[in-house]
Amino acid sequence: MSSMQRKVILDCDPGIDDAVALCLGLAAEEFDVLAVTGVEGCVSADQANRNVQYLLSQLDPAKWPRIGSASHADDAPAVDTRYLHGDDGLGNVGSTTAAPHHPHPSEKLIGDLVRAYPNQVTIIALGPTTNIARAFRRDPGLEGLVDRLIVMGGAVDGVGNITANAEFNVHFDPGSARHVLASRTTKTLIPLDVTRQVQWTLDLLEQLPDVGSRLGRLLRRMLPFAYRSYRQRLGQECILLNDAVALMAALEPDLFSTEGMAGDVEVSGELARGMVLFDRRHPQEWRANMEVAREVDVERLRERFVTRLRRAAVFFRD
Ligand code: RIB
Ligand code: CA
Repeated sequence: MSSMQRKVILDCDPGIDDAVALCLGLAAEEFDVLAVTGVEGCVSADQANRNVQYLLSQLDPAKWPRIGSASHADDAPAVDTRYLHGDDGLGNVGSTTAAPHHPHPSEKLIGDLVRAYPNQVTIIALGPTTNIARAFRRDPGLEGLVDRLIVMGGAVDGVGNITANAEFNVHFDPGSARHVLASRTTKTLIPLDVTRQVQWTLDLLEQLPDVGSRLGRLLRRMLPFAYRSYRQRLGQECILLNDAVALMAALEPDLFSTEGMAGDVEVSGELARGMVLFDRRHPQEWRANMEVAREVDVERLRERFVTRLRRAAVFFRD
């Protein structure tokens, strides 16, 4: 293991796009993935735990990260994302994997690892920020000890994907998002505006690693469901892989342009629950509290993504 590797926690609610991000992150030579922590979001807490276990057992990386277990989020809205992610969240892969018997709560594991490696851990949040807010509430000193927090969430242009103006991850647990975005942690937000710029046409399926590899087989079990559901339910031929784009922002920051912005979350609005509001007045009155990705080099991201998947297929040997 190289000493140049970044220590990373991947916090996720798998989810097909979380799963693809996990494949990239676990195989990235730049990362030392300390833990994969489940969170409730586009799947229930129990399903998130099963899916983390399933994905790791399918990929079977040489060094297994520690696993954190999701638990039910307070005040979670009733959402049903089965049409996009399948009954099991992974495109109906038919997993029978059980959740771990002696679960280690995600928020506790995050706290323990950040304390063990002060100012060294990058947390990549690919679902609601419930675990991170809980970890910060349990131990407020953690806020200043995280090296960087990268969050997939929000929409600068105010065009949502779960309501008219809210993005799913923030809408699911706006109180946690508000707490985390207001924290003094160094943060980068990867909003929908940017992840939406990367549309994945069907030819992605032809560029996947071949079926001779664990990774090729896993991706071929999940991704066709996404193409079918986007076509049948949304009338689109392309799919989005929001979390995979966010993961690429952590790995290939040169592909993204960012801007320091001041943002806050609507937690109680009748129409705007979970909307991230940015102060874009001139002069701005709120203090900038995060870097926000604003543009991405779509073509180069696509190329590097496919190259990384091919490398990952070799990493996850049979
Ligand atoms: O809004 C996109 C986010 O919602 C992604 O994290 C996706 O996995 C879904 O949970
Ligand atoms: Ca997700």
